[in-house]
Amino acid sequence: MLKAVIFDLDGVITDTAEWHYLAWRELANRIGIDFNREFNEELKGISRMESLEKILALGGKADRYSETEKIELASTKNDHYVQLLTQMKPDAIFPGIKELLEELKANGVLIGLASASKNAPAILQSLEITNYFQTVVNPDEVERGKPAPDIFLRAAEKLAVSPAECIGIEDATAGITAIKDAGMYAVGVGTIEKMKQAGADLVVEDTQELVLSVLLREFNQ
Ligand code: BG6
Ligand code: MG
Repeated sequence: MLKAVIFDLDGVITDTAEWHYLAWRELANRIGIDFNREFNEELKGISRMESLEKILALGGKADRYSETEKIELASTKNDHYVQLLTQMKPDAIFPGIKELLEELKANGVLIGLASASKNAPAILQSLEITNYFQTVVNPDEVERGKPAPDIFLRAAEKLAVSPAECIGIEDATAGITAIKDAGMYAVGVGTIEKMKQAGADLVVEDTQELVLSVLLREFNQ
């Protein structure tokens, strides 16, 4: 029986995935690293410092910066990203997500957030949806980031449900791997080919398709 839906945030609830991309691209370009959307896919779901390491490795500059300089680079990117976030209003929520949160609440299905972002609580506040969530896992609470299942398992633990009673929703391939390895039903938001390849059980190309009756039908099959 479905007891909880555990959401990723960036790219599932709102379009922050695009803002992460813009902020990383500007930082990468500033230090002479070419950066495109295809490479950006690899950063989805990955922590801030891991993203920076991947970008530096892409540019062959992994050894060029000290740990202190890397922290400064990551914080420069975050300052830019947080600046972009100031534009965020409740209408930035993806189509159908608010309706799904309402349906879940009305049907007693618990709601959790399993985002790698340290900015997640502020984003939920800006979107005015904090109150729907029974738990928001702080990424610092778990040892390993996505694609490890830790953050989804922690969300289930905090909600006091078993992983088999959960649906996880993700837009990143690392996130789909995390959900599947947690033993949950994985819903991918994105292109069918990419999400199926990552192991998603159900794929929607548009968040408007995320309707409780559809999720229940597929989950119970
Ligand atoms: C994830 C994003 O949700 O959060 C990643 O998909 C991002 O792209 C990560 O790097 C960490 O976010 P933040 O806000 O803590 O830098
Ligand atoms: Mg995401």
